[in-house]
Amino acid sequence: MNVQNSLEANSPILFFWEKGLSLEQHAAKNILSKEQWSLVEAAVRFEKFEAKAGKTLVVHSQSGPIIFIGINADAKSVQWAEWGASAYKALKCSRVESASIWLGDINVRYAKNAIEGAGLRAYSFDKYKTKNKEKQACCLTTITWGHEKADELKEHEPLWNARTMGVHLTRDVVSEPPNVIYPESMASKAVEELEKLGVEVTVIKPDEMKKLGMGALLGVAQGSLFEPRLIILRWNKAPQKEVKAFVGKGVTFDSGGISIKPSNNMEDMKYDMAGSGVVLGLFKTLALRNAEVNAVGVMVMAENMPSGTAQRPADVVTSMSGQTIEVVNTDAEGRLILADALWYVQEKYQPKTIVDLATLTGAITVALGLEYAGLFSNSDCLSKELLCASECTGEPIWRMPLNEAYDRDIDSDIADMKNVGSGRGAGGSTAAHFLKRFIKEGVNWAHLDIAGMAWDKKNKPLSGKGATGFGVRLLDTWLMNCDKEATCTTKN
Ligand code: BES
Ligand code: ZN
Ligand code: ZN
Repeated sequence: MNVQNSLEANSPILFFWEKGLSLEQHAAKNILSKEQWSLVEAAVRFEKFEAKAGKTLVVHSQSGPIIFIGINADAKSVQWAEWGASAYKALKCSRVESASIWLGDINVRYAKNAIEGAGLRAYSFDKYKTKNKEKQACCLTTITWGHEKADELKEHEPLWNARTMGVHLTRDVVSEPPNVIYPESMASKAVEELEKLGVEVTVIKPDEMKKLGMGALLGVAQGSLFEPRLIILRWNKAPQKEVKAFVGKGVTFDSGGISIKPSNNMEDMKYDMAGSGVVLGLFKTLALRNAEVNAVGVMVMAENMPSGTAQRPADVVTSMSGQTIEVVNTDAEGRLILADALWYVQEKYQPKTIVDLATLTGAITVALGLEYAGLFSNSDCLSKELLCASECTGEPIWRMPLNEAYDRDIDSDIADMKNVGSGRGAGGSTAAHFLKRFIKEGVNWAHLDIAGMAWDKKNKPLSGKGATGFGVRLLDTWLMNCDKEATCTTKN
């Protein structure tokens, strides 16, 4: 992506067209040649084109297509990411190799969002397609953005680059099939991607897990031929600041174990490692933008399989915290592996704040569909900060309740707790309460249930079909806002 303060329309070019603005008032008039302008006038007249949000007009000229995308006049900052993404899509559909996009004098914050949105949309996962590769490949390689304050805008380039590259990495690992991404290969990927950027990567293997007493994690992994891994990422560019921890569920395939899932859609369970993918992508972003934060990431990786060595419903395991768990349903495995990861990170790094991300329950998708991730937290203040970052970023989250009654629901007759509720609904909340039992007194904790947000079968504006990378930008924004203190003022 190039950014400059003027454009000449000698290559394909795209303009946004604010609703209510007449063609005569449009800045394109000063950029296009006379011949091009008369073509535009004719096309607008012929098509009776009116600028409305999402409407596109394509005018063919000798130097390539001239494209207009309608936008609403009161577009908020976050919406600009979607306009940027639509611009990318429109240019891609025109099958051009290079193109320009004129942003004029729009607010620099909006402009940077548009560029980030285009970068986010410029993603596809086609490495396993061996046929028609050329046809499918996108030939759009260079976009030149024009903005009157190009220099000011360019200052943000490291930021949008860092974020798009972080999100793309998350989408890559989430899209990979489970015979390619499994705990050990995920650890290699983390080392390969992050060490060169200055992130310290430590990998804990089963022998050490045994010594640490991680019975809950080991129990989930014991049915699989793949060994579990705990991957620790350390990025500390601000030792004077409090440690913030990010913990991600990394079940590289969730068959359900002995409580096996129905085969319909079971293939979706390759993305049950999305939480760990977000932690990986977030740390890439932090490293690329050289973020002044003190962060630790934990990716807890295991595969949940049925076999002769698999854990049974009714098994009792002892977690690293010393608390015992009756495994009533082996498909509620995410909370088991997270229990040990959460405890580990608190023992080793004493973070004041922990955010975990997990494709934890189907129940959250029943409650919130594919529109919001569920936020569960023991802290109103942390929730407020995350909700604010969510609004700034356009990655929606909705706060869900915690309650003593949900907690009682996971009491077990023979152990300290069981891994599922007694079947009285509120599956997202009982799962969150299970995790809460592994959070130490005084620690601010938020749990994001991203089961409905990590993958999309429809065409999402910023990600298309497939892995979304949901969470990377939200948490990156949150970390940036934490620096600014006055969090909610940065909204628009
Ligand atoms: N990985 C699933 C949750 C999930 C469902 C993620 C749909 C993404 C999309 C999780 O491990 C699971 O199986 N949860 C069970 C819990 C139940 C056994 C209490 C569920 O939600 O059905
Ligand atoms: Zn499961
Ligand atoms: Zn799962």
